[in-house]
Amino acid sequence: MRPDTLAIDFGTSNSAAAILENGVPRRLPIQPESDTLPTAVFFPTEGGGMRIGDAASEALISGEPGRYMRALKSVLGGPLLNETRMIGGRRQTLAEVIAAFLRALRERAEAATGARYRRALSGRPVHFHTADPVRDARAEADLRSCYLAAGFEEVEFLAEPEAAALACRHLGTSGPAGLVVDIGGGTSDFTAFVVEGDEVKVLASHGIRLGGTDFDQAVSLANAMPLLGLGGELRREMGPGLLPVPKAIYADLATWAKIPFLYTPATRREAALMARLATEPAQLGRLVRVLEDELGHELAFAVERGKIAANENAPEARIAMEFIEPGLTAPLTPEALRLGMGRFGEDLRQAAAETLAMAGLRADEVGNVILVGGSSLMRLVTDMARVLLPEATLQRSEAFTAVVDGLALATAMPVRTDSARRAVAEG
Ligand SMILES: Nc1ncnc2c1ncn2[C@@H]1O[C@H](COP(=O)(O)OP(=O)(O)OP(=O)(O)O)[C@@H](O)[C@H]1O
Ligand SMILES: [Mg+2]
Repeated sequence: MRPDTLAIDFGTSNSAAAILENGVPRRLPIQPESDTLPTAVFFPTEGGGMRIGDAASEALISGEPGRYMRALKSVLGGPLLNETRMIGGRRQTLAEVIAAFLRALRERAEAATGARYRRALSGRPVHFHTADPVRDARAEADLRSCYLAAGFEEVEFLAEPEAAALACRHLGTSGPAGLVVDIGGGTSDFTAFVVEGDEVKVLASHGIRLGGTDFDQAVSLANAMPLLGLGGELRREMGPGLLPVPKAIYADLATWAKIPFLYTPATRREAALMARLATEPAQLGRLVRVLEDELGHELAFAVERGKIAANENAPEARIAMEFIEPGLTAPLTPEALRLGMGRFGEDLRQAAAETLAMAGLRADEVGNVILVGGSSLMRLVTDMARVLLPEATLQRSEAFTAVVDGLALATAMPVRTDSARRAVAEG
């Protein structure tokens, strides 16, 4: 690719942009003094234009009226992307919001360097959607359209774990091969590779739609939502007997990308009706409060903080919900976190094992496992790697920047946008 190429890691939770300067990746300060920024947007009700990154999160935390959104990447390839909604005082789609976010990235990168970036080299998960090639292709086409709408004239894609492998080649491989394990906010991605001289040769890439936002959702449904009435019962409007509280609102409230769309009169009416019929009205009252006062993202952040604290074995790890009701809190022990993760560890193990099978590698041929992505800090990920590859050395790369660094390096190389899918076809 040419020097007017901007490398972009558009992540579910965090994004970054970089260029190649004298053969070395240079991350651009899209937000002041920071290599990455939250993939978050905020549209103030009062007008004044979209804010992104930490500025968006600060607006949410300060309680400024407006619409906050996060985890936008997860809607690519699905129907929500092109539905028109009232966002920031005008009707627009999430595709337009993603394009506006990418445009802001491009313009800030251009302001930082004085260059004009016509081309984007973007990361993409190996699979946006697990075992659904049609939706997966749709998601890439959607993301491409967003880049074009953001003012880029050409877009190429590279699988995120392949980019990370490029950035981590200096770690070498103490055995014949290495395995990148990139567990992010939305997807888990794997690349088996060998280093030949200065070159990284990709043997196979594979991935599943599972990431930290799914861990948050599971933790929320098991530990926070019961305090808002999930699992309780409702009296019938007519006749005797009790019904379980419907799960749908709770499932959306526990899903980062869906939270903003719960703040509608219809959902608020439904919650108010549930509260009237509930055998435990105080708990349902909290759900009503969260919807009325638009506290869903605060709750998601509280769950995420609780997850990270419990994962670190912090004493008194908990989901702090005082902003809903004084004193409201859900303890989250490391054991509760482990139980809440259910099958996720096994899903990751299977996906990693499948990557090795596609690469034609035995476990004892993998010398290094290179952990990248914020969720690779989860204990279940390291446990999985130790079980699958007991002889390999676990190495940590720069969890939040390996992908964008690798993308910057790849701007100087011929890009094979379809290597991941080719590996799938051959595997
Ligand atoms: N210390 C930590 N322990 C456990 N999880 C963490 C930690 N720090 C961040 N995370 C989780 O990492 C995830 C974000 O990681 P990352 O920034 O690598 O994702 P992303 O690149 O935006 O997503 P993706 O690549 O899947 O699109 C979040 O789900 C967050 O909760
Ligand atoms: Mg990522």
